[in-house]
Amino acid sequence: TAPAALEFAVTRNLAARGRGEREEILANPGFGNHFTDHMVDICWSAKGGWHRPRVSPYGPIQLEPSAAVLHYAQEVFEGLKAYRHEDGSIWTFRPEANAARMQRSAHRLALPELPVEYFLESLKQLIAVDGDWVPDAAETSLYLRPFMFAKEAFLGVRPANKVAYYVIASPAGAYFPGGVSPVSIWLSDHYSRAGKGGTGAAKTGGNYASSLLPQSEAYDHGCAQVLFLDSTEGKWLEELGGMNVVLVYKDGTLVTPQSESILEGITLNSVLQLARDRGHKVEERRVSIDEWRVGSESGDIVEVFACGTAAVITPIGELKAEGFTLGDITAPAGELTMSLRDELTGIQYGRRPDRHNWMTRL
Ligand code: PLP
Ligand code: COI
Repeated sequence: TAPAALEFAVTRNLAARGRGEREEILANPGFGNHFTDHMVDICWSAKGGWHRPRVSPYGPIQLEPSAAVLHYAQEVFEGLKAYRHEDGSIWTFRPEANAARMQRSAHRLALPELPVEYFLESLKQLIAVDGDWVPDAAETSLYLRPFMFAKEAFLGVRPANKVAYYVIASPAGAYFPGGVSPVSIWLSDHYSRAGKGGTGAAKTGGNYASSLLPQSEAYDHGCAQVLFLDSTEGKWLEELGGMNVVLVYKDGTLVTPQSESILEGITLNSVLQLARDRGHKVEERRVSIDEWRVGSESGDIVEVFACGTAAVITPIGELKAEGFTLGDITAPAGELTMSLRDELTGIQYGRRPDRHNWMTRL
């Protein structure tokens, strides 16, 4: 049965920034630097379920120092974008998939599952007050960040009885400073992101915390992202710190790693669908680092790209590892990579027909 509709209490931000200040930010948003004037939150308690939905001014959250999330990282989040179409309307991409993934993540972290309807409504409520923050320049969007955490003041280790769900929003340009040009990737041969039976498939802060040190090694080697291998054999491709990876073979086959410990990317799933629609063969299977190495050296692997909400589709020019380098960072981005990118963003920005019904108007 559908959950009861939520009645959001709206408190306008009296200190909301004016048009001039907003447009200055939207002209050059970067990624994750600026936040809109409002936020949404919904409380959950073991006794009362979901309650007190609000839209309020963006600002600090009060937490007790003993709040469980600060100690045991009982937290999950999502990431999706709001796009402005040519006629000014605001749309988002496959939000039900993010809602469903947040439920799976919540389940793994012993957090309550937010009903899909509440997730969708929370996005609509935020856009209703902060819609002016969705930029209209090419390749820009408003990044939406729903998240949920254990706020109960309790140091015993058990699932919290008090939880908060929030949505904040941040205007976004390209995730990588270089825009859409090919990036270098660093192969972490020492650290894993997630282990068998762990939380790798959940979108939870701990996975990102564990990626930070290897990610700084990547930066030290001049690379934009780190590539993780499986934690058992150190042999099978998993994913990058914050995006999935796809290899393209000479015969047009797309290959992406299958693993229980990677995030099921919605961008990945969509790109693979677009490729299948064009008649490409798609394989979701185990891929070893040797396969990449041999395929790259023999010329059988012709393109590699990363994909995710923040990264969209970003060509990978080069893989650097201790002892070897694959690819050529000076080579132009792959043709199929860029054409899939064009098709995906075309759908997202309303320039192409949405034949899979992926877009939802906010
Ligand atoms: N893998 C990781 C670790 C991520 O953080 C993300 C980004 O959300 C992805 C993959 C791609 O997922 P999606 O395409 O749903 O954004
Ligand atoms: C996203 O793409 O939504 C992510 O969460 C990845 C992160 C690197 C920003």
